[in-house]
This record gives sequence, structure tokens and C-alpha cells, in this order.
Amino acid sequence: MERYQSGDEAAKQLPVSYDEWRARAKEVLAAAPFGYVHGAAGAGDTKRDNVDAFQKYRIRPRICCDISKRDLGITLFNAKLPAPILLAPIGVNTILHPQGELGPAKAAAKLGVPYVLSNVSSIPLEQIAEAMGNSTRWFQLYPPKYRELTKSFLQRAEKAGFSAIVVTVDSTLLGWRETDLRNAYLPFLIGHGMGNYFTDPVFCSQLKQPPHENLEEAVKLALEEGNNTCFTWQEVDFIRQQTKLPLLIKGITHPDDAIMALEHGIDGLIVSNHGGRQLDGAVATLDVLPSICEAVNGKVPVLMDSGIRRGADILKAIALGASAVLVGRPYAYALAVAGESGVEEVIRQLVAETEFQLAISGRHSIQDLDASLLVKVK
Ligand code: GLV
Repeated sequence: MERYQSGDEAAKQLPVSYDEWRARAKEVLAAAPFGYVHGAAGAGDTKRDNVDAFQKYRIRPRICCDISKRDLGITLFNAKLPAPILLAPIGVNTILHPQGELGPAKAAAKLGVPYVLSNVSSIPLEQIAEAMGNSTRWFQLYPPKYRELTKSFLQRAEKAGFSAIVVTVDSTLLGWRETDLRNAYLPFLIGHGMGNYFTDPVFCSQLKQPPHENLEEAVKLALEEGNNTCFTWQEVDFIRQQTKLPLLIKGITHPDDAIMALEHGIDGLIVSNHGGRQLDGAVATLDVLPSICEAVNGKVPVLMDSGIRRGADILKAIALGASAVLVGRPYAYALAVAGESGVEEVIRQLVAETEFQLAISGRHSIQDLDASLLVKVK
């Protein structure tokens, strides 16, 4: 991957740190969409803990190591990736920028970083696939109640060249989000995030009128499909039977659930609490990562998200057993600030910082990191 050039004029005008990206996004967005991304469930304790958990560990560098060659590359489901970083599934991107999900999709494709497209993207998955060419993309599913719709989404994703399926299991009911309640804001209600539903023949066949004639009916049905509170392991089995693609479960924070997932034929796990947006008071993902990796014992890749803000976080997550991490809010803010080029910039920054961190810690290969990199200080 091309290195971040600090001399580039355009880059100079863009923020560098996560806090700056967030502040700039707050300037350019109206209060409600900014609040939707920034907000969390309840008091925000879990969102805060996700970030604070990284402070419990410090990196202990080794000295006099040859760090002239550095390798951030990993292999995941037979794909060679330039860094252990993926763009997390975030829907409704048109509340952030007119490009919507085309922004992160194109930026990810340019840099060879996988993009996990959300089921609730505003732009249909086929358009995303077209914009990404041969670049690695995964499709994330909020499993619908109606099995035929699940099948249709999966078939469309496979046909469009998505190479893995991520089933999110922590959001069969949307969290209690005070910011959105205060702003009386849910982007779906005004038609954002409906790209895949409104272009789906199975979904549309359930409607009395097409979405452009009756938005309210169409959105109501999509939300009912997403509020899949009956979802159980049986439904996981159903999804497993529908696809030969690698299947990952996102939203695991308990080692027993990790073991259950293996028993149900899952190919990978994503340790996640949805960026603190679902269950307030839930445990931070970094705090549970080691116990989940221990339970999984190398049988499948364990990825993690929620709280990744910079290179040090990435090193710590990998040292504690993650195969790769997903970043969410950092690129969402960057999309709001500068569209596709903002997302590109934020990925370049994260990759470059991770490389610097790796080298200065005295290591040269990210794949060789283990817990000996870290000291637990709290
Ligand atoms: C949807 O999944 C959200 O977190 O808003």
C-alpha cells in the first residue's frame, strides 16, 4: 500500500486525529445525523469503556531490532490483505454524504482494504459491487424474519461477488439511544438505508404499493423484518445452509456463544458490542477478546471491533489474539468531512500509524505479535 504523504496539499487540509475528524464532522453535519453516528445506547458507558479498555494495556518495546522491513499483511479467508483492517458495516451513509456507501466502498477498493457493506446501506449492493471491481467486499446481514428475503439478500450478495457473509446478531432490537430520542430521529423513517430492500423482488412483492408510491408502508415492513426478536441458533443454521461463502457472526462477547457458533458451522467471529450502540453497560470488547480467543483456540479467525481509534489499539487487539479489526466511526466521520477522499485518508492514516507503531515497538511482522508485546497496567 502506498504510504501516507504528509506533504500532499489536500491531505494537509484534512484532520489527522480521531478527535479532529469527529469535531470536523460535527461542524459539517446537522445535529441529528451527527448524533446518530456519535450516539450510543443509554448512558454511553459501554461506548466509553470500549475505548478505555485499551488503556489497561501498555506496549513494551524491544530494542536493537532490525525494523527496516515491516509487514502488516495478513491472509483472511484466502485473501491477502495489506493490513489487518476492515471497514465495519455502517448503513444509512447518505445521512453523512451524498455519495453514501460508494464513498467507503471506493476508498477501500483503492487501498485494497476489505469493505463490509451493511444490509441497511442506502446504495444497493449491486451498485457497490460495480464500483469496487474485483476488490474484497463482504456483505453484512441483519437477518430478516422472512426466510425468503434472507435467501434473496444472500443470493444477490453472492452473485455480486461479495466473498463472505457477516450476520449481526446483537441488533434484533435497536438499542435505547437517548440522542436519537431527543432528536426524534431514525434515518430509516425518511428513506435512508433502504437501498437493498427497495430493490429486492422478494421484499417488493410483499408490498401493496411500490416504495416510491408509499414510502411509509415500505419502511414499516423493512423495520419489521429487521426487528427479528425471534432470531435463534435455528435461524443461524438456516443461513448456514443457504451459502457456501465464509460465514461470520458479529456481536459475540461470551466465550460460550463463541463455542456455540463453532458448533453451528460458523467460519469466523467478530467480537463486537456494536460500538456501544446496543446494550448500555455491556462489557468492552477488548476485555473479552482473550477469553474468546482461548475458547476458539485458533479454529476460526476472531476479529474484533468497537473502540478502535488508532494504531496502538490495533496492535493491542492483534497482540491479544484478534486476526484483524474493523473500524467504524473513524471512517464515518471522515466520510462526512470529505467523502471518498476523507475515508481514503483515514485508512491511510490508520495503516501508516500502525506500521510506525509496529516498527517502533521493535517488531517487524504484525502476524507474529502476541501478548508478550503488552503489559497489563490496570
Ligand atoms: C444500526 O445498526 C445502528 O447501529 O444504528
